[in-house]
Amino acid sequence: MATSVTERLEVRPLHPALGAEVRGIDMRRPLDQATFDALHEIWMRHLVLVFPEQHVSDAEHVAFTRHFGDPEIFHQNIIKSRRVPEIFRVSNVDDDGNLMPPDHPTVKQVSLAQFWHTDSSYREVPCTGALLHGVETSRTGGETQFTNMYAVYDALPDSLKQQIHGRRARHNFGHLHKLASLRPLTPEEEAAMPPVWQPMVRKHPVTGRTSLYISPIYNDEVEGLSAEEAKTLIAQLTEIAAEPRFVYRHRWSPDDVVMWDNRCTMHQVTPHDPRERRVMHRTTIVGTEPVLAA
Ligand code: OGA
Ligand code: MN
Repeated sequence: MATSVTERLEVRPLHPALGAEVRGIDMRRPLDQATFDALHEIWMRHLVLVFPEQHVSDAEHVAFTRHFGDPEIFHQNIIKSRRVPEIFRVSNVDDDGNLMPPDHPTVKQVSLAQFWHTDSSYREVPCTGALLHGVETSRTGGETQFTNMYAVYDALPDSLKQQIHGRRARHNFGHLHKLASLRPLTPEEEAAMPPVWQPMVRKHPVTGRTSLYISPIYNDEVEGLSAEEAKTLIAQLTEIAAEPRFVYRHRWSPDDVVMWDNRCTMHQVTPHDPRERRVMHRTTIVGTEPVLAA
């Protein structure tokens, strides 16, 4: 008799708040419906899944991503792979394999992932999630931390919950450029990616659960607050989100693939020695609906 999906999939929780290691999947092969369903359920339960030893090519990585939705093609050329446009290169090595210095604009932009954020929150319809493949992983740092925003919301003091309920924060792609002291966006770039207002408390479209929704690298305004008050509030919420009880920290091995849900988590990467190559390839799952206020 064939083994059932649940017998084949080995799931090992990595932290009390979130994260599980999953074995028994080969990303180079298509998923059948029963395996997809089981995996999706595990993803919704653990928020961040780590798949060790996935020797995928970029094309296989993209093909696996398609099970979960359309892969996003990033709107800027500097980070997009030249060969496979669905691959977003989180790397200090350029497309030709050359190490870039820390003051290179691409490296400066990528380095902003050292601050807590959730991906593409500056889109009217932000992405669902992402899958990051460790191609050349770091030994001097470069660990990725994830926080469970359902648990963070639940743990907020009532006074903070009241402050953010029914309130929206602005998510502005251009804010990133200010933080990284990169050249400001051109009027064309600004028009292509205008800032959006997102609810600070959201309801997950699949699980129905409530979470905090902020993305500090993009948040430049909060409804009804002065710039100073907005900054203080976002910093206060970020500090709570970063408490170790909510955070799983992933130490990478080559060919790990880590998949996260951007609707209920934030992440950041720890610094690493800039002389060390770090090559990470990401696919991003295009979102299907605007953020739902809770
Ligand atoms: C990302 C990101 C962190 C890392 O891919 O969206 O923020 O560890 N990456 O490289
Ligand atoms: Mn990111």
